[in-house]
Amino acid sequence: MTQITPSRSQIPELNPPYRLLLGPGPCNVDPRVLRISSAPQLGHLDPEMFTILEETAALLREVFQTKNDMTLCVSGSGFSGAEAVLSNLLEEGDTLIAGSLGFFSGRIVDIASRVGATVINLETEPGQPLEAATLEKAFQENPGVKLFATAVAETSTGLRQPLEELERVTHAHGALFVVDAVCGLGGIPVKVDEWKIDACYAGSQKCLGALPGLAPVTLNERALETIKKRRKPVQSYYLNLEALNRYWNGDHTYHHTICSNLVYGMREALRITCEEGLEARFARHQLHGDALKAGIKALGLRILTEPGYELPVLTAILLPKGVDEMHIRKTLLSRYNIEIGGGFGALQGRLIRIGLMGYNANSQNVYTVLEALEHVLPESGYPVTRGTAIQAVDDFYASQH
Ligand SMILES: Cc1ncc(COP(=O)(O)O)c(C=O)c1O
Repeated sequence: MTQITPSRSQIPELNPPYRLLLGPGPCNVDPRVLRISSAPQLGHLDPEMFTILEETAALLREVFQTKNDMTLCVSGSGFSGAEAVLSNLLEEGDTLIAGSLGFFSGRIVDIASRVGATVINLETEPGQPLEAATLEKAFQENPGVKLFATAVAETSTGLRQPLEELERVTHAHGALFVVDAVCGLGGIPVKVDEWKIDACYAGSQKCLGALPGLAPVTLNERALETIKKRRKPVQSYYLNLEALNRYWNGDHTYHHTICSNLVYGMREALRITCEEGLEARFARHQLHGDALKAGIKALGLRILTEPGYELPVLTAILLPKGVDEMHIRKTLLSRYNIEIGGGFGALQGRLIRIGLMGYNANSQNVYTVLEALEHVLPESGYPVTRGTAIQAVDDFYASQH
C-alpha cells in the first residue's frame, strides 16, 4: 500500500457528494436533525447537557413504549447496544439460546460466545421466521438457559419476526427475553412493556432517522436485578450499563465523554417521531414499503422473505441467475447517486436490498428507485418493459385512497 504524504494541495476541503441512502441504513436524516447536530457543542458535564440527556431518555421511553428507568443511548453503533446488553446480562458459564435469523441476529452468537457464554444456536433458513415450537424444544433439551435473544427485524433478509409466542415460551422457562430492534425501532411497532421484553437494543441510523453513533437500549427491573446479582463485575468498563445509567438518568456522574451533537440529533429525531405519532409513522412505513413491493413484483422479481413475514422498512429482492448485482448497485450509485444494499454470505450476488426508513419512507423515493431500476436492470441482465413498475405503484397508491 502506498501512503500519501498529506499536503494542502493533495487533500482539499471535503465536499462529499449527495447520496440518496436507500440501503439497509444509514438513511438520509431530516434536515432538522442535521441542523441541530451542527449547533454549538456542550461539555458532557454541562448542566444544560444533563437536561438534554433526561429529555432524550424520556423521548426514547415513548418510542420504546416503556416505563423502564434504565433507558439510554450507548455511545456507538447498533452493535455497541448488542454488546452492552449481552455482556451485562451474561457471564462466563451462562447459557443463551440465539434466534439467528440472518447475518445481524446471527452476531448474537458471536457476541455471547466472546462473553464466555455457551450458545445454543437456532438458525433459520434465509427469509424464514423462527417457530415457537423450535424454541420450546431447545428450552426443554437445555435446562437452565438464562436468556433468549433474537431480532424483531432481520435486515439481511427483510424478515419481520413475530415475537409474541417466543416471549411466552421464553418466560415459561424462566429466561430473559432480549430483542434486537436495530432495524425496527421507529418503523414498526416495538412495544417493550406490552410484549414483556426484558432488554432491547436499537440503532440510531435506520427508522429512527438520527445519525449513526448512538445505540438506544432499555432494560426492565428484572434485567437490572440480573445485572445486580452478577458473580463478577461486567468485564467491559466502557459498556457497564449501571454506570451509563447513572450518567444518563441518575446523578450524571462522569463515565465517558459523550458527543453532545450526536445527542442533539437523536433528541430531534425522537421529537420528530413523536410529533408524527407512532401509529402514523408505522402506517407510513407500511404504505411505502408495500408500494415498493408492488413495483418490484410487477417487474417479475421475487421477494426473498416468506410471504406474511416481510418487513415494510427493508425489501430483500432475489435476483435470477445471471443478473449482475454489482452492476446494479454500482450503476445506481454512479448514475443516480442512489445507494442500495446487496446480499450477505450465501446471498452475496443474489440479492438487492432496498430500505425505506425514517425520513426516506415516502412515495418520491419509491418512484425514484423504481425508475432507476427500470433503467439499470436491462443492462444488468434482466430485461424489463419500461413503465411496468411505475404503473403498478400508481395503481397501488390509487387503491389505498
Ligand atoms: C438487525 C440489526 N442488528 C444489528 C445491526 C448492527 O448495527 P450497526 O451496524 O449500527 O452496528 C444492524 C445493522 O444493519 C441490524 O440491521
